[in-house]
Amino acid sequence: MSQTWWRGAAIYQVYLRSFADGNGDGVGDLAGLRARLPYLKDLGIDAIWLNPWYPSPMADGGYDVADYRGIEPVFGTLGEAERFIQEAHDLDVKVIIDVVPNHSSTESAWFKEALANPAARDRFWFADEPLNDWQSIFGGPAWTQVPDGQWYLHLFAPEQPDLNWTNPEVHREFEDVLRFWFDRGADGFRIDSAALLIKSDTAYEDLDAVHDVYRRWREVADEYGERVLIGEVWLPDQERFALYLRPDELHTAFNFDFLSCAWDPADLRRSIDLTLATHTPIGAPPTWVLSNHDVTRPVTRYGRADTSFAHGGALHGTPSDPELGHRRARAAALLAMALPGSLYVYQGEELGLPEVEDLPDELRQDPMYARSGGANPGRDGCRIPLPWSGEEPPFGFGDGTPWLPQPESWRKLTAEAQRTDLGSMLNLYRKGLELRRRLLGDGTLAWLPLGEEVLAFTRDSGLTCVTNLGQDPIPLPAGTVVLASGPIEDGLLPSDTTAWLT
Ligand code: NOJ
Repeated sequence: MSQTWWRGAAIYQVYLRSFADGNGDGVGDLAGLRARLPYLKDLGIDAIWLNPWYPSPMADGGYDVADYRGIEPVFGTLGEAERFIQEAHDLDVKVIIDVVPNHSSTESAWFKEALANPAARDRFWFADEPLNDWQSIFGGPAWTQVPDGQWYLHLFAPEQPDLNWTNPEVHREFEDVLRFWFDRGADGFRIDSAALLIKSDTAYEDLDAVHDVYRRWREVADEYGERVLIGEVWLPDQERFALYLRPDELHTAFNFDFLSCAWDPADLRRSIDLTLATHTPIGAPPTWVLSNHDVTRPVTRYGRADTSFAHGGALHGTPSDPELGHRRARAAALLAMALPGSLYVYQGEELGLPEVEDLPDELRQDPMYARSGGANPGRDGCRIPLPWSGEEPPFGFGDGTPWLPQPESWRKLTAEAQRTDLGSMLNLYRKGLELRRRLLGDGTLAWLPLGEEVLAFTRDSGLTCVTNLGQDPIPLPAGTVVLASGPIEDGLLPSDTTAWLT
C-alpha cells in the first residue's frame, strides 16, 4: 500500500463491544475480532478503526479511559492487541485506534491522585465553584462537586473529567501515548472530540490554541511515516474546519456535514460541492461517512419523512418505511463509495442493519439516556451486537447472552444469510468496495448535468456514478452498467437508485 494509503482508503469502523464475542461473556472482544478478520478482508476494506479498547469503567462505552496504555480486560490483553495488529498487517489491512484527549476517567490514576491530593489537580479543571453555567453535552450541569467541596469540569458525563491542556504535562503524556501505540504498529489515530481540548472562561469549542496540539502531534506521526491522524471535528464553519487539515496538522477529518444530509438532491449536492471546495485547495482528501456509533442507522433514517440526522434523538421512533429506507441506503452506499477521498463503513452498515428503536428502557446503557432524563433515547440502538449466523439470537455473535438484545427479525440479516444472496446489502458492499478499490478512491470528480433531481458525475478513471433522487425513472447515460443498487429496466434508472457505468 502506498505512503498515502489513507487518502483513498475504505475504513471499517469496529465497535468492539458489539462486533464478535470470542469468550462467551456476551461482550465483543479481540478474540472475536481476530477470528473475523477474514470476513473484513473479504469485504474489501483497507483499514479498521476501533473505538476505544482501553481499560474503562464503560460509563460512556469506553470513551472514559482509565489507562491509555492498556487494553480493557473484557476485550483482551495488550499481547492480543499486538497480535491483532500484526494479523491485520499480514492481510494488508491497516489499524487505526481511538485516542481520547479531551477527557479521561474518574478511574484514571491521575484523577484518583487529584481526588486524594488537592495539590495534584492541575491536570484537570478544578475550581472552588463552577466557573460558568455550561451544560454537559449529554445533559445536566458540566460541573460536579467532589467531597472536599471543589468542582471539576466534564463536558460529557461526570465520569469523564476534562483534561487541562494548559498543563505541559498533559501534552507530554499524550505525545508519549501516541508513541506507545505507533511503536506497537498502530497506523493512525482517530481523535475524539478533537476541537474541544482548549477552554477559555467562556468557550470550549474550536479555540485557536488547539492547533498547537495537532501541529506537535503531526511531528510525532511524521517521525514514523505512513501514519494518519483523523479528527472528529463537528464544525459547521468550513473555513474553521479546514484549519485542522493544514499540511502540518491532521491528515483528514470526518465529514459530518455529509452524514447529516437529508436524502435530498439539493442538500447532497450542496454538501458534496462544499466538501470538495473545502478540501481541494488545501490538498486534503475528503471523507465520506454515512453512519457511526453515535448516529441513527441509515436504513431507518432514510425511511422516515425527515431523512436528515441531528443529535438529540427527536426523530427517534418516528415512522420509518423499511423498504424505502433499505433502497435509499443501498443507493447512498454506492454514492458515497464513488466520491473522491476516503470512505468509512460502520459495522453492520454492510448488513443493512436498522436502528433498534424498541429497546426496553431498563436496558439502555448510553449516558445520554439517563442524563437527558429519558428525553434522548441515546445511541444504544445503533450499537446492537452484530448478527453473524443462525436462526435465532445470539446469531453467532458468541456463546453468551449479548450485552444488548438482538431483534429476532435479524435472522434475515445475518452475514451468513446475506453471503449467499447475490442481491444482499453485504454483496452490494463487497462488489462496490472491490470496484472502488480498482476504479475510484482518491482524486476528483466532474459533474454531469442530468437534472436537478439526479446526482451524476464521472471520476478520473472514467467510471460514472448516477443517483436518481427523483420520483420517476430516468434514462441512463451511455455506457455499461457495472453495478447498481437496484434493478434497472429498459435502460431506466428507478427512483432512489444508484448505478455505476463504464
Ligand atoms: C465522540 C464519540 O464518538 C462519542 O461516542 C463519545 O460519547 C464522545 N465523543 C465523548 O467521548
